[in-house]
Amino acid sequence: MIRLAATPQESASDCARAISRWLNRAIMNRGRAFLAVSGGSTPRVMFDALAPLPVNWRRVHLFFVDERMVPPDSDQSNFKLANRHLASRAGIPEENVHRIHGELDPQAAAEKYEHDVLSRLGPSGFFDVVHCGLGDDAHTASLFPGNPLINNRTGLCAAVWVEKKQEHRVTLLPSAILSARHLCVLVSGFEKKWALRRALDPRSPALETPARILDRPSTSWFLSPAEVYEDFR
Ligand code: 6PG
Repeated sequence: MIRLAATPQESASDCARAISRWLNRAIMNRGRAFLAVSGGSTPRVMFDALAPLPVNWRRVHLFFVDERMVPPDSDQSNFKLANRHLASRAGIPEENVHRIHGELDPQAAAEKYEHDVLSRLGPSGFFDVVHCGLGDDAHTASLFPGNPLINNRTGLCAAVWVEKKQEHRVTLLPSAILSARHLCVLVSGFEKKWALRRALDPRSPALETPARILDRPSTSWFLSPAEVYEDFR
């Protein structure tokens, strides 16, 4: 499903409404909902739109698609962004927010996060909703071009070195992202058009175009501004 919107705010609201529906369905069917969100600059508006929506937030568990290896109070922290703009505003219980411990050694943080996810979802569990972004180089999560982990279909998460950013990160791996009951990608700004075109082109090798893995019929794409992405309808 590809949904265009005139503005990033409208697209963020469309994405937030879809996530709220999916969370409510999970809570109705299984008594709780597992949501994994990405960071960066795009999601803030979406988190602000999602927090006030009618969801039984006390039944939601918030996880992270990736994290920078920084303390939780750093302005670079994906946890800080989601905690301030979503979890604290929506009223997700603190014990239901499962951050990646960016203050730890990257490998230790990855191992702790894997344990935390498995202890909640179970060895064959799934996220109900995974929200991904798209970089202008066609990275998604913290799977950047050239990282062979894009072809890993067995692991849950990993510590990675991002040469382009000169920083360590922890990221979910493709199987954890692609096994989501609902996968949505929020893309705003003309600068992502080239990356999106490559991500939706079957000829693009995933190693060069990591967001290629997101191109599935069940993925929900929320794109803005509409005039930039009109030919993706
Ligand atoms: C991160 C994100 C990353 C993000 C893209 C797009 O930690 O940066 O998880 O994958 O989704 O880099 O970021 P923007 O929304 O800032 O363009």
